[in-house]
Amino acid sequence: MGRILSRAGDQSRRDEHTLSDKDFRYICKFVYDATGIVLDERKREMVYRRLMRRTRETRLPSFKEYLNFLNSNPEESPKFINAITTNLTSFFRENHHFEFLKSTVLPELLAQSQQRRLRIWSAGCSTGEEPYSIAITLKEAMGNRLNSWDAKILATDLDSDVVATGKAGIYKAERIDGLDTKMIKRWFKKNPQNGRVKTATELGELITFKQLNLLEPWPMKGPFDIIFCRNVVIYFDKPTQQSLFQHYYDMLKPGGYLIIGHSEGLGEMQEKFTAMGKTIFQKIDPLSGSLSNDS
Ligand SMILES: C[S@@+](CC[C@H](N)C(=O)[O-])C[C@H]1O[C@@H](n2cnc3c(N)ncnc32)[C@H](O)[C@@H]1O
Repeated sequence: MGRILSRAGDQSRRDEHTLSDKDFRYICKFVYDATGIVLDERKREMVYRRLMRRTRETRLPSFKEYLNFLNSNPEESPKFINAITTNLTSFFRENHHFEFLKSTVLPELLAQSQQRRLRIWSAGCSTGEEPYSIAITLKEAMGNRLNSWDAKILATDLDSDVVATGKAGIYKAERIDGLDTKMIKRWFKKNPQNGRVKTATELGELITFKQLNLLEPWPMKGPFDIIFCRNVVIYFDKPTQQSLFQHYYDMLKPGGYLIIGHSEGLGEMQEKFTAMGKTIFQKIDPLSGSLSNDS
């Protein structure tokens, strides 16, 4: 009898955590409207797992009740979105971008800029490894010269949890496995008690972390010398990608650089940029139709 009851219990628990087509469609629309992220059948398993996590965290008994809760509590919406975003990243991911920064962009700026102003944006920065990699590259390439520059890195992401991690600059020690030992010694402080590392304060001083949904109005004016938006637009549909690239174009200085992820492309917006290497694009000066050096 007990076994039969427990089997019945298992079945009802399964029903409570069955993701119906209707609920899946509701979630896809909810996420698309809020973030531009396109979810489809291929993402169903992932949505299931992340919905399960949030349902458990809120201690609600079923998906149905969780989705009612989401629908009627605006403060749950960012938490659900945080659970849905994919935040995969690492220090010096796609290292050729940082090599390009060091070998081409920074020497160019050092030689040409009268204003000694440098603005870099890491858009969709996840937990901060990307902006810290940019900061390390700037510090190592420019050395003391950086002190006489007004240099700032803006790091933004939709997900407030990852922005908080970036701001704290504290990571599991294995996140820096594989980095050069000299680099580790110079820019990270190990805490043997908790197996974590903390980024050097002077790196954090270069970076401003902010929560920002790329699909909502942007508070900053720019212009930027370089925008990194890597492995973000891959989650968006083509019209959203194109309007975002247009927006980046408007925010870049003539001659500024847009850097995207390894499996992304600019589509029709490519004609407003010159390809400078794998997934690196330079804005064509709209006035002269050529690349401008300094503005
Ligand atoms: C896969 S991570 C990429 C991190 C880093 N740029 C890299 O390449 O290593 C994608 C990031 O884009 C963010 N994202 C997704 N949609 C966004 C939106 N509408 N506005 C801002 N950030 C968004 C996610 O929260 C996530 O942290």
